[in-house]
Amino acid sequence: DKNFQVAIDGPASAGKSTIAKILAKQFHYVYVDTGAMYRAVTLAVKEANIAYDDGDAITALLPKIKISFKPGEPVQKVFLNGEEVTNAIRSNEVTNNVSQVAAYGPVREYLVALQRQIAQEDNVIMDGRDIGTTVLPQAQVKIYLIASVAERAQRRFKENQAKGMNPDLDTLKKEIEERDYKDSHRAISPLTQAEDAIVVDTTGKGIETVVAEIAQIIENHQ
Ligand code: C5P
Repeated sequence: DKNFQVAIDGPASAGKSTIAKILAKQFHYVYVDTGAMYRAVTLAVKEANIAYDDGDAITALLPKIKISFKPGEPVQKVFLNGEEVTNAIRSNEVTNNVSQVAAYGPVREYLVALQRQIAQEDNVIMDGRDIGTTVLPQAQVKIYLIASVAERAQRRFKENQAKGMNPDLDTLKKEIEERDYKDSHRAISPLTQAEDAIVVDTTGKGIETVVAEIAQIIENHQ
């Protein structure tokens, strides 16, 4: 592969998408938010009134799902079958059920193929859970981004408040821990640090500090 690939993996709310998006702009790479893809599939399952534990029905739905992205601020716009779902995929309902949908083999095969196809066409910064281990095992740079649960819950708390919600910190902390548990204990490509990944701990660090740290790592590998 001639293209340059940066894989950023890590647990929920560690700051992956914020950091990846800034780096993509800085290096002129295409940013690929794979979590948004799993979220879009989860939303499609919900809209089709399929139960989250109905693996067969979810598998049958996959060919009818088309996911696309468009540039946008402050976040990329996400489309499901032509309809914008940028906000809808961040609902609590989707957030709290996405790990179950993402655990199905056919769902992962479908999305991993799409992710690899994008990486064939452009230089990418791709964030998710299994990018360094499964999707792009040859990535030139692999980052494993972590932060304490307390800090990740606090970040999500502020995000939700900014959206006009009235979040409960303990509930958010439990939801993050539960999602991390499911993502790291599933049978197929669970969340785990790739052997050759560099760990970056963002606890107590500002966005700019983390961006500069990873930018330096990318430059060292170019
Ligand atoms: O990154 P984000 O928190 O938006 O991801 C939502 C969910 O999608 C994760 O909790 C996980 O269940 C799933 N996911 C995954 N593999 C990826 C990216 C996300 O299983 N590469």
